[in-house]
Amino acid sequence: MAVNRTPFIAGNWKMNLDHLQAIAFVQKLAWSLADAKHDAADAEVAVFPPFTDLRSVQTLVAADDLPLAYGAQDLSQHDSGAYTGEVSGAFLAKLDCRYVIIGHSERRTLHGESDAEVNAKVKAAHRHGLIPVLCVGETAEDLEQHGASAVPVAQLRAALEGVDAGKGLVVAYEPVWAIGSGKAATPDQAQQVAAALRGVLAEIAGEELAAATRILYGGSVKAVNIAAFLREADVDGALVGGASLDLDEFSSIVRFKKHVGA
Ligand code: PGA
Repeated sequence: MAVNRTPFIAGNWKMNLDHLQAIAFVQKLAWSLADAKHDAADAEVAVFPPFTDLRSVQTLVAADDLPLAYGAQDLSQHDSGAYTGEVSGAFLAKLDCRYVIIGHSERRTLHGESDAEVNAKVKAAHRHGLIPVLCVGETAEDLEQHGASAVPVAQLRAALEGVDAGKGLVVAYEPVWAIGSGKAATPDQAQQVAAALRGVLAEIAGEELAAATRILYGGSVKAVNIAAFLREADVDGALVGGASLDLDEFSSIVRFKKHVGA
């Protein structure tokens, strides 16, 4: 992790916690971090609850002025219209979301999201002032056939086609085989792919922007392995799934600098 990039710890709740549970969780998370005197300069913290929780999270964060960011797990590539079940980036912006996850592997595989759709969603996020947390990653089969970085690099190029990355971007490298499997990539693997992704960013958007963009690792991140990832030069944080639903575990991940002396 480079000194000029604030580490980013993001909790992807997936389809867990209703709005009442979300209120309780966010409140406890904020207390836990305040208790531990967490310094926002050590890590920016964001949660990504289901759509139905966002209004409650917004109200709580605003009322108590909590040092937490939040965002949605997806958005529509369209702004409004006859798209039953879709959620516009305009609505997310109205809820003061700062971020939106785009192209998570569960969207790509379970919902057949193509690179072209991911690209359209990145543009939609930017139209509404939202920062995409753009997920890329290879399957176990891709890894065997093409090595670790080929697929994530191709996905990144496709997602950024015609995009002004200067409008805000976070990239999350999430090997599909590591998600929810308990088998995280090694820090060295994560570093290699993160460096390749930063190289692509430099090529597309220039060195300065590439150096300022945070690249996260995701896939079975826990309190015991977070510090090793963050020691790598090009890994600037984590997108955390399962462990983000466990308050002690997640708050320990956020405080990675303190508890493991990274
Ligand atoms: P995991 O999920 O931490 O449960 O592996 C990560 C993700 O899907 O973003």
